[in-house]
Amino acid sequence: MSVSAGDDIKLGPPHAEDPERLATFQARIDRGELIERDDWMPEDYRLGMLRMAEHHGNSEIMGALPEGEWITRAPNLKRKLALIAKVQDEVGHGQMLYRVVEDLGKTRDEILRDLIAGRTKYHNVFNYPVPTWADVAMIAWLVDGAAIMNQKTLADGSYGPYVRTMKRINMEEAFHFKHGEDMVLTLMSGTPKQKQMAQEAFNRWWPPSVMFFGPPDRKSTQGAMFLRYRLKTTTNDDLRQRFVDRFAPAARALGLRFPGDDSAYRFNPDTGHWTFEQPDWDEFYRVIRGQGPCNERRIALRRFSYEQGAWVRRAILGQLSATAA
Ligand SMILES: [Fe+2]
Ligand SMILES: [Fe+2]
Repeated sequence: MSVSAGDDIKLGPPHAEDPERLATFQARIDRGELIERDDWMPEDYRLGMLRMAEHHGNSEIMGALPEGEWITRAPNLKRKLALIAKVQDEVGHGQMLYRVVEDLGKTRDEILRDLIAGRTKYHNVFNYPVPTWADVAMIAWLVDGAAIMNQKTLADGSYGPYVRTMKRINMEEAFHFKHGEDMVLTLMSGTPKQKQMAQEAFNRWWPPSVMFFGPPDRKSTQGAMFLRYRLKTTTNDDLRQRFVDRFAPAARALGLRFPGDDSAYRFNPDTGHWTFEQPDWDEFYRVIRGQGPCNERRIALRRFSYEQGAWVRRAILGQLSATAA
């Protein structure tokens, strides 16, 4: 999955840096060089990258939870196998991203503890319910599709370890998206009941997918710093427009209607872009504050697995006998 705009990432007070060193560092970024783990970096860069990779890793892990719950209820063996592989991939993405975070100075246990205590966030989009199989299809199509769009631009970033991780992740996300597209197509060419399921799931997932890229740029508080350091390479609104331009015509072609005002969606030949209805941004901020429909449930499940897995971690670290003694 993916990161938001950095607006729910806390960076702390500014850190005084040697101006000459900072200028040399910024020049490297501006030349398009990659910064590596052992290179000197200013504190706000290190922390910004750490928080971004942590948020991303958390999102991969949390996103796997609602999908994992559907493995036993997949409609046939082919879909079940594909879903198992997807869930395994997403957890693997979390693992790779957490390694990037660890190298930047935060331990795995601190990452997981902060997540279950609500001190760090994961992507808003995973706080919505997944009541039917059609929702699983829409997630793989729209949310993985949005993630690929975002992550392709992040693969042009400035931090080498994160950039290489993005390239690897994106290859796997492409399979998730293809699988999602195939599931949505199957539902939309099925029975009236299947089409209705797909439409209802689309109504639920379209608005969170449009919000996926974070708040409008004018409300983004830390966007400029992320762009200056090339931790991000595109603005939220640019990404959102690209998403709408790609998915609005695809949804229309499949026979889906947009929730809210369907007539707001049309191609504007003057701009070369699709017009669309803005989602409810108040809802976006409510969900960030922890008041989304599934925030508590998702965190409770994550906490449960953290606690249930404690003995495994102790055994792997060789601390089991010491604890028992
Ligand atoms: Fe992923
Ligand atoms: Fe994915």
